[in-house]
Formats: sequence, C-alpha cells, structure tokens
Amino acid sequence: MNKTILKMHNVTKYIFDSYGHALRGTTVKILENVEFDVKESEVHVLIGENGAGKSTLMKIIGGIIPLDGGSMSLDGKEISFSGPRESLHHGIGFIHQELNLCLNLDVAENIFLGRESGNKIFINKSEMYDLSRDMLLKLGFDIDPHTLVRDLSTAQQQIIEIVKVLSYNCRIIIMDEPTASLTKSEIDKLFTIIKDLRKRGISIIYISHRFEELKEIGDRITILRDGRYIGTVDIKDFDYDEIINMMVGRKLGAMFQSKHIPTQQTILEVKDLLISSHTEPISINVKRGEVVGMSGLVGAGRTELAKSIFGSRPYYGGTITYDNEDIGHLHPSTLISKGLVYLSEDRKLEGLVLDMSIASNITLASLKRMFPFTRIKRSKEHEVAKKSVEQLNIVSNSLDQLCNTLSGGNQQKVVLAKWLLTAPKLLILDEPTRGIDVNAKSEIYKIIDTLASQGVGILMISSELPEIIGMSDRIYVMRGGSISAELTDKKDFVQEKILSYTLS
Ligand SMILES: Nc1ncnc2c1ncn2[C@@H]1O[C@H](COP(=O)(O)OP(=O)(O)OP(=O)(O)O)[C@@H](O)[C@H]1O
Ligand SMILES: [Mg+2]
Repeated sequence: MNKTILKMHNVTKYIFDSYGHALRGTTVKILENVEFDVKESEVHVLIGENGAGKSTLMKIIGGIIPLDGGSMSLDGKEISFSGPRESLHHGIGFIHQELNLCLNLDVAENIFLGRESGNKIFINKSEMYDLSRDMLLKLGFDIDPHTLVRDLSTAQQQIIEIVKVLSYNCRIIIMDEPTASLTKSEIDKLFTIIKDLRKRGISIIYISHRFEELKEIGDRITILRDGRYIGTVDIKDFDYDEIINMMVGRKLGAMFQSKHIPTQQTILEVKDLLISSHTEPISINVKRGEVVGMSGLVGAGRTELAKSIFGSRPYYGGTITYDNEDIGHLHPSTLISKGLVYLSEDRKLEGLVLDMSIASNITLASLKRMFPFTRIKRSKEHEVAKKSVEQLNIVSNSLDQLCNTLSGGNQQKVVLAKWLLTAPKLLILDEPTRGIDVNAKSEIYKIIDTLASQGVGILMISSELPEIIGMSDRIYVMRGGSISAELTDKKDFVQEKILSYTLS
C-alpha cells in the first residue's frame, strides 16, 4: 500500500468572510468533521452534490482559507498554510474550478506569472515563450503562447490553467472539475497526462460530476454530502447505485423521461447563415415543443451560431426568422422581451452579476415584466426568487447571499433560474449542465421536458453525448463551422454515429 502523504482529520469550516475567517457569531458550518487523505501515486476522486463542500475542502488544502477545527498534516507533521504560496511551496498545486487567469496577458505570461523565466533577475522573454510552447506541445496542445488569454475559448483557457500548474512540478495536484469545459479528445489528453503523473509518484485530487471519468482514472473515491464526510471507497468496488445513494441520500429515478411531443409549428428558422466569412451557410430550425440537440467539438461553431441568433455577435449573411418575424440584427434585450433567451456557456462572464445577491440575479432579466409601472419591491422579488430556489434546489444560506460565495454548480442554477423566469418561447441552452451534479441534472432535464411540453422550443448545445441522446427529439451535428449531419431517427441517436460526424 502506498504511504499516506496528506491527511485531513475532523475538519470543520464555518461560513466565512472574504479573508476566509469565520463570520462572527455564526454557527453555520460548510464542513463538519470531514476526513480525507491522499496517498502517494494515487488519483483520489472527491464527489458530492453542488454545494457539498468539495471546493471549500480543497481551498483549505490550497492555503486559500484556514480551517476552523480539526487538523491537516503533511508527511505526518501537522501543518497550516498562511496562503496559497505556502501551499504551493509545499508541493501542492491547485487547478481551480473557476479559472484564475489574467485575461489581458498572453498565454506565456500567464503560465510564468510571478516567476518570469526561472530565478533570473531579468525576464528572458524569448525563453519564456519557447518554454511555454514546448510545454503545451509536449502535452499535445498546439496553442500559440503569444495569444491573449481573453481571445482563447473556455476550453483552451482551462488547458492553460492546467499547464500552468503542471509547470510547478508539484507532488499533489488538485483538479477541481478540470474537464468541465473540455471535449472528448482534450479529456483523453488530460487523462494521459494524469496517468503519467501518477506513474511518476505524483498524487491527484480529482473533482468531477462525470461518473464515467471516475472509473477510468480514479483509485479511491471520497463522498461528501451537506458538508459531511460520508465515506471512502475503492474504485474497484465501484457500484453506481450505491455511490449515488451515498451522494444524494436516496436512489435516483430514470434520468431521461422525455415525454414531450414536438408540434409542427416552427418557432425558429435559420436560413443560409454565415457565421464567419469562410464557413458554409447554416440552415436549422426548431419547432414549438421540440428539444433540438446540437452536438460537436469545442470550436465547431456552436456557440458562435447561438450568439449570432441571439444578436450578440455579428454574422455575414443569411436570415433568422423567429416566431414568424425576421429578427436579423435585433439586439439581445429586444429578443429577450420577445421570449428568445440564450443561456451562455460562460456563466461568470455573461450570466451572473457575482457581487449581487441570489434574489437580485434571479429577477434581473424579468424586472421590467414584474414591475412595469412601479419601483422594484424587494418583498416581491424575494417571493419570486424563493420559488425558483426551491424549484431548482439551489443550495444557499439565504436569498441575500452574494453569488460569488455560491458553489460553482449553484451559480449555474441561478443563471438558469434567471432565464426561466422570463417565460421564454425559445430557449437556447449552451452546456446547461456543465458542473451540475447528477441530482440537479435530473431536475434540469425535468424542467426542460416540462417547458417543451408547454410548447417552448429548445435548442440545446451540449458536449455530453448521453444528454444529447437522452433529451433530443432531433440532433444537429456541427463540424468546422457548418452542419455535418441532421439526425431525425432515434435509431441513429448513438454515440459512435454522432461522434463520427463531429470528427473530420
Ligand atoms: N464565503 C462563503 N459564505 C457563505 N457561504 C459560503 C461561502 N463559501 C462557500 N459557501 C457555501 O458553502 C457550500 C459549499 O460550497 P463549495 O463551493 O465547497 O461546494 P462544492 O461541493 O464545490 O459544489 P460544486 O459542485 O457546485 O462546485 C455552498 O453551499 C456555498 O454556498
Ligand atoms: Mg466546487
């Protein structure tokens, strides 16, 4: 048996202020008597529902916040970190759930931030770019180190974050949902990297909501529920139902029930749309009450297409008809008022006002509708928000909690709640369940089904094939900026078939 290097015992954490210190007088615990340990050369998977406390536990290991009770030891010696640098100094690297990059710096500057080219006093710029390019290529990614991080896709940004932490030669690497925005081929590359790290004696703490991943790379799984330690099991004893039971506290019903029946009335008709000057024209349609899946790899143009329809990105030709009206070039706010809504894949940049409360965020896009003639009434706002919070099971301490203190998955649910409240007729969902736990996923699927059965048209962009297959009435596949297939027969809704159209 490999030896234990990191051990957390009886760890307790109260809700805390922006410095990580427990709020005065609070008795609300985010973590309570949690046990966790990491062995040499293992991939230790940490799972639990959104808000279970996974990221909080990792922030303690990463030196970002202190623990309020219990102990942490490294190599048998009790230890506490005064900040992230000290944790890093002890060989612990942290790939954060919410990316931590400087958008206005380029790739190499981000990778070397704070330690520009080794220990030399002067920054040797060209060396920094060469090293970055080498590191990226060695890991199988061809990204120009001069590119500004802001110009990269979310997936590429995630890769930069991973490469940055790997470059520190740590002995323990925390990966908090590293694959949330990666697609199959990038995930495969990451797994090759992880397996190689493990072979070299490095340990990985791995957080993910994707079960199929856990079996592939995990050695042990620890389960948290409501901030409490439920247990640790060996991956070889993995039993799906039992793990779900430990995680959620009960058995889950069938994930996909899709009972809705699409109508023949078209709500969205896109004809010969050019999303860039060098791509082929795109034609798609969505009927009322229909769930249309949009599959494809990152970079296939799915988000660009969605943004062009939503009026938040220019396009180069073609027509968009929504609800029998030509909506080409209308502004997103006009479209929202007409019931066309786009739930962006990037909740942090486009979906949420992080330093506003849950209640304000949920009602934000519906204020005009809710208070056409009067000032905003907080009590009404709370009443409406409370319903959404219950419906989507958003885990929070109060409706006034600021969104930047919510767990990642719960932030995503707030974005969804916000758009659902606008009573849409056409909902474009971009990766709607990214970072969402199994239980909440099945809730979101139920909501999508209900909306569809009420006649709402749904265009669902997703990189998760089971979700595309389980939810869709019809599937489009995109590749290289154009539609490579339209699947209408459910017999064709199989992973291999869809994948074959996504790859060139
Ligand atoms: N500063 C804070 N103030 C109040 N509550 C907080 C604070 N930080 C975290 N929480 C709460 O602690 C709980 C645990 O959050 P955490 O981010 O650890 O969850 P998680 O397991 O990582 O979830 P996810 O899967 O959604 O990422 C959440 O309910 C969150 O609202
Ligand atoms: Mg988290």
